Amino acid sequence: MANYLITGGAGFIGSHLVHALVARGDQVRVLDNFETGLRKNLDPVRDRIELREVDLADAAAVQQACQGIDYIFHEGALPSVPRSVKEPRPSHEINIGGTFNVLEGARLAKVKRVVYAASSSAYGNQPGFPRVETMSPQPLSPYAVQKLTGEYYMQAYWRVYGLETVCLRYFNIFGARQVPDSPYSGVMARFTLMMMRGDRPAIFGDGEQGRDFTHVDNVVRANLLAIEAPREKAAGQVFNIACGQRHTLNETYALLATFIGFQHPPIYGPEREGDVRDSLADITAASEVLGYVPEVGFEEGLRRTVAWYREEFAGQEKGTQ
Ligand SMILES: NC(=O)c1ccc[n+]([C@@H]2O[C@H](COP(=O)([O-])OP(=O)(O)OC[C@H]3O[C@@H](n4cnc5c(N)ncnc54)[C@H](O)[C@@H]3O)[C@@H](O)[C@H]2O)c1
Repeated sequence: MANYLITGGAGFIGSHLVHALVARGDQVRVLDNFETGLRKNLDPVRDRIELREVDLADAAAVQQACQGIDYIFHEGALPSVPRSVKEPRPSHEINIGGTFNVLEGARLAKVKRVVYAASSSAYGNQPGFPRVETMSPQPLSPYAVQKLTGEYYMQAYWRVYGLETVCLRYFNIFGARQVPDSPYSGVMARFTLMMMRGDRPAIFGDGEQGRDFTHVDNVVRANLLAIEAPREKAAGQVFNIACGQRHTLNETYALLATFIGFQHPPIYGPEREGDVRDSLADITAASEVLGYVPEVGFEEGLRRTVAWYREEFAGQEKGTQ
């Protein structure tokens, strides 16, 4: 049994990590200010975790939250490309400044390892697929720059202070508890809820852009493995976390429509500023060093996700034709 701190633990991915750790009997402290995360994501485990309602910008409170902690999963962020384009300053302050505060807190508290939620947006639109960690990054948006800066900080803290850090570059994660109805919602959650309500979702661009969609259970597994991986191979390293398969938005739309019973075509709109055209990961490094294997495939992940939204938004489902 170990002590874990999960920043952003009320959010989509963070709450899955919280639930997984509680289920195996670990001590969990959550740090979140509920900017995009939801209290109800923690309800089922609320009496078994310690919750600190703290802003990542508050260096002293973050440092206190790191005391007595063995391992940190740093998920807290403003995780949206369009939001970072519209309002770059808050994203900059939380995604870079907040990450710095976590690292400083971890260093001072002598935390054993920090696992960082990095982003595939670091690769940008450079040529060459699948994406391999050795490619030089080409971030396109403020968000991508911020998340990449977080990686550099993680690596510097390993090199300079010997704080063990592992960066996991997530590729388009989806699943239960992803917020579907915010202007910054991910595409999968947005499509699912709109189709259930009988509304036609919009696709930005021609829909032929590809994504390496990855179910959240795979991400939880990758994080737990990143804690156990040998220091000499994992510390200071970056790993792609994905399925290693590319699915277009048109294909994803069609499959979701079939599962939900929705029969209308999408509305096509202009491409969005800062969006990457394609993403597809090489997951060899994660497989060799962490022992990571994506256990939930794309279609199975979609099925589980639709089932969850059906339960969560019961009563909102329209006759779909
Ligand atoms: N979802 C994806 O596809 C994806 C892809 C790549 C990387 N990531 C990264 O994974 C992490 C989790 O993303 P998510 O999809 O679960 O998003 P999310 O918005 O559900 O979770 C982010 C959490 O951080 C919290 N937070 C935001 N600002 C904060 C602040 N100032 N102080 C304290 N807490 C704050 C939010 O309240 C929320 O609970 C993020 O770091 C994101 O950049 C996600």
